Amino acid sequence: MKILAIHGSPRKGNSELLLKEALNNIDSNLHEIKIINPSNLNISGCTSCDGCKHTGKCIIIDDMDEIYPLLKDSHRVIISSPIFFFSVPAQLKMLIDRCQCLWYEKYVLSKTKQKDTNRKALILLVGGMKRGEVGVTCAEATLKAFLRTIDVKEHKTLSYLGYNEPGEIMKNPRVISDIKYAVEEIMKND
Ligand SMILES: Cc1cc2nc3c(=O)[nH]c(=O)nc-3n(C[C@H](O)[C@H](O)[C@H](O)COP(=O)(O)O)c2cc1C
Repeated sequence: MKILAIHGSPRKGNSELLLKEALNNIDSNLHEIKIINPSNLNISGCTSCDGCKHTGKCIIIDDMDEIYPLLKDSHRVIISSPIFFFSVPAQLKMLIDRCQCLWYEKYVLSKTKQKDTNRKALILLVGGMKRGEVGVTCAEATLKAFLRTIDVKEHKTLSYLGYNEPGEIMKNPRVISDIKYAVEEIMKND
């Protein structure tokens, strides 16, 4: 299977470790894994120009040209992100907003080929606030809208709150087993 792993943080920290843990549970000899981080890519924000309205194609030329095929063709998507102001970091949000063309394609132009209805995702979220549940709810809602737009119908979410220092998340004794179980679940072909 083709696995797309999206790391949402601009720093090397907790969400990167969560993502690495998830990928440790996937055999790279059996599956094709592609890791991207919008912070390292040249992606500008959607300008709401409606240039994609009649074609489903964004008119902006940048690194999204290489990301769109990954979003369309991957069998599994793993997103690992910190929560920033009850949402996801701006760099990841810019990638998501640029999927407005895929939204038009799917919901208005109906061009999406339903070639694989079994696409699944895993969302990994980490926040610093101890009682930051609203941040999880809001960030997950954004990511759910993104997944629906790229035609991934099923997902699992794991969230961890109260972790701020880079690497601190690995002190949580549940992380390794939680992620192992969640990855096994999404890798099932049912
Ligand atoms: C700009 C910014 C906004 C943040 N907003 C929130 C928030 O709304 N809720 C929360 O729980 N944590 C918030 N945090 C804390 C981060 O989510 C937390 O430090 C997390 O562990 C960072 O993950 P990373 O190490 O993968 O970057 C914020 C951090 C930054 C830098």
